[in-house]
Amino acid sequence: MTGPTLKIAKRSKMPPFMAMDVMRLAAELDAQGHDIVHLEVGQPSSSAPKPVMDALIDSMGQQKSRGYAVALGIIELRQRIAEHYQEWYQIDLDSERVAVTVGSSTGFAISFMSAFDVGDRIAIPNPGYPAYRNLMLGMGLEPVILPAGAEEGWMPRLQDMENWDRLPDGLMIASPHNPTGVVIPDVELKEICEWCDKNGVRLISDEIYHGLSYTGRCETALKYTDNAIIINSLSKYFSMTGWRIGWMILPEQLISAAEKLAQNLYISAPTPNQIASVKAFDCSDELDQHVERYQENRQVLLSGLPSEFLGNAAPCDGAFYIYADISALSDDSIAFAKELLDQTGVATTPGVDFDPINGHRFLRLSFAGSTATMHEAVKRINEFVEAYKKDAA
Ligand SMILES: Cc1ncc(COP(=O)(O)O)c(C=O)c1O
Repeated sequence: MTGPTLKIAKRSKMPPFMAMDVMRLAAELDAQGHDIVHLEVGQPSSSAPKPVMDALIDSMGQQKSRGYAVALGIIELRQRIAEHYQEWYQIDLDSERVAVTVGSSTGFAISFMSAFDVGDRIAIPNPGYPAYRNLMLGMGLEPVILPAGAEEGWMPRLQDMENWDRLPDGLMIASPHNPTGVVIPDVELKEICEWCDKNGVRLISDEIYHGLSYTGRCETALKYTDNAIIINSLSKYFSMTGWRIGWMILPEQLISAAEKLAQNLYISAPTPNQIASVKAFDCSDELDQHVERYQENRQVLLSGLPSEFLGNAAPCDGAFYIYADISALSDDSIAFAKELLDQTGVATTPGVDFDPINGHRFLRLSFAGSTATMHEAVKRINEFVEAYKKDAA
């Protein structure tokens, strides 16, 4: 094709999702009928709770489900989310501060655009969820790596930011964490909130894996500060990834900005899904059964996988991930994941997308699948590691 060379924005040059190669390969092998054991998927295999699905069907006949909703979400859902904070965290929350979003992913976009200006610096723990960094780059913000790997005890450390030439404008945290499953203990969460308030640093707390913790409940940053933006969604504990319903709890000064951004970005989250989602918060009996399965799956992997494969894994106290340190076997996680997939049909996610510095030594294993899948994974990985060690000897 001929014609003028048109400009492509520098901001759109995000790093590629390198682990996609392995995931694409796993999907292709699956489609060809191979028996693939999926440890790469970061989402529940279970459906939405039954009462939510019934409510969706009911909502179809209702006039109010047909059109757009108001940008910050239908009032019934905002109020039910506010009640959820009372039930889970004993916090009195004004539903005016709740904004319903299209998954938590648009919550990030709205938070970054409402709280920061182009050029602002936001500290992000490394390893971490790649979309934070990529979205920030796309918005002209500067993500600043805050080391939070094995050497830092898998935690973001406040003293590291104090040693920087200047403090960041924002700090992003996620607990339980993706990819490590690490939970920030309550005392440290409080310290982080207080430090951010004292230093004028805007905290964004991604709490999407709340409800999925195996060593005690997680506290919300909202307990310790009203200045943080809290991000959450129905995707993980609530088992409703495809419904694209998330929410933010906003500091009062940001409500109006967030409303305008939501109006302009997506008008509203899908209305029928909002109506049905009100029911999700009354389904803990069904949802807690999934958590029991994750707990069992976690145990199957932790007790059954060879020590060389788990290595110095992060303490996976929450979410549904183990961040395995494979450095005793390989220092190229992409090649290792491909070989593992080729030879055993076990699909995992190389750490490189979560950590551009040390991710070549790690694999993320998701235990969101069935318990039978975890047993099969343990069997195949043990055989693979035995053969791998013999080959290397
Ligand atoms: C830490 C974290 N935050 C946010 C998301 C995005 O979730 P949502 O489906 O709510 O957009 C994910 C998805 O895997 C995640 O791991």
